[in-house]
Amino acid sequence: MTEIITILNQKGGCGKTTTAVNLGAALATLDKTVLIIDMDPQGNATTSLGIQKSEIDNTLYTLLTDKCTFQESVKETVVPNMYIIPSNISLSGAEIELSKEIGYPYILSEKLREYELGFDYIFIDAPPSLGILTLNALVATDSVIIPIQSEFYALEGMADLLETIKLVESRLKSPCPIKGILITLYDARTRLSKDVSKNVKEFFKDSEYIFNEKIPRNVKLAEAPSFGQPCITYDTECPGTKAYIRLAKEIIQLEGEE
Ligand SMILES: Nc1ncnc2c1ncn2[C@@H]1O[C@H](COP(=O)(O)OP(=O)(O)O)[C@@H](O)[C@H]1O
Ligand SMILES: [Mg+2]
Repeated sequence: MTEIITILNQKGGCGKTTTAVNLGAALATLDKTVLIIDMDPQGNATTSLGIQKSEIDNTLYTLLTDKCTFQESVKETVVPNMYIIPSNISLSGAEIELSKEIGYPYILSEKLREYELGFDYIFIDAPPSLGILTLNALVATDSVIIPIQSEFYALEGMADLLETIKLVESRLKSPCPIKGILITLYDARTRLSKDVSKNVKEFFKDSEYIFNEKIPRNVKLAEAPSFGQPCITYDTECPGTKAYIRLAKEIIQLEGEE
C-alpha cells in the first residue's frame, strides 16, 4: 500500500520543501521506498535532490498535461530508494492550462491511480498557494502534514488553509485528514519558539495531532540543498538529520498504532 502525504502550507518559507526532501530521505534510509512529487514551479525539491532543473525533459508538468507517461516522469535521485517527479518553471503555466480541463482537480489523482505505484510513501511538496495545483494535491492525497514555522505570524492564514481542506472534503468528496502539525525552524533557546509552540497547541486543542518531534533551526538543513543533496547524506550526525530521522520513526510508529 502506498501512502500519499501532502506537505501543505500556503505560507512560503515554513519548511515544506525541507520537510518533503529530508523526511523522504530519512524514510528511504529506513528501507522505505519514497517518491517526492515536486509541485512547486520553483523546483526547489528538484534541485535539493541533485537534479538540474534546466536539464530535465519530463516533469510533473508534462505528466499532468499528458505529454509523458508516469514512468517517464519519475527520476532517480542521489539517495537510494528515493525517486522524484521533478518540476521547473514550466509548471507555472499548468494552472491556466489545467483549469480548462473538465474535472481539473482530479488530474493528479487519476495519474497516480493508473499505475501500480510500488512506493511506500509519496510526498507531495505543495506550492505556496491554495490554487489548482494544491487542489490536485489535496484530492490525490491520503493525508496532509502542516509545517508551521516558529515565528510570530505562524498561525496567520491557518484558517484559510483549514477552510480549503474542508471544501475539498465537502465539495469534492475527497477525505483529507491532517496527519499532523509539524513545528519547524524551532530554536529551544528563544522565548518566541516556545510561545509559538504553546500557541499552536492552544489553536488546535486536541483536534489535531502535533508531532512530538520539532524540527530545530539548523544551518546544515539550509546548506545541504546547495550541494544537491538531502541533509542525511550531507551531514549524517547534525541535529537536523537526527530530527528528521526521529520524525520518520514517529510516523512509522503512528501507522503501527492505527
Ligand atoms: N529547520 C531548518 N533550519 C534551518 N534552515 C531551514 C530549516 N527549514 C528550512 N530552512 C531554510 O529556510 C528556507 C525555507 O525553507 P523551505 O523548506 O524552502 O520552505 P517552503 O518550501 O515552505 O517555502 C530555505 O532556505 C531552507 O533551507
Ligand atoms: Mg518549497
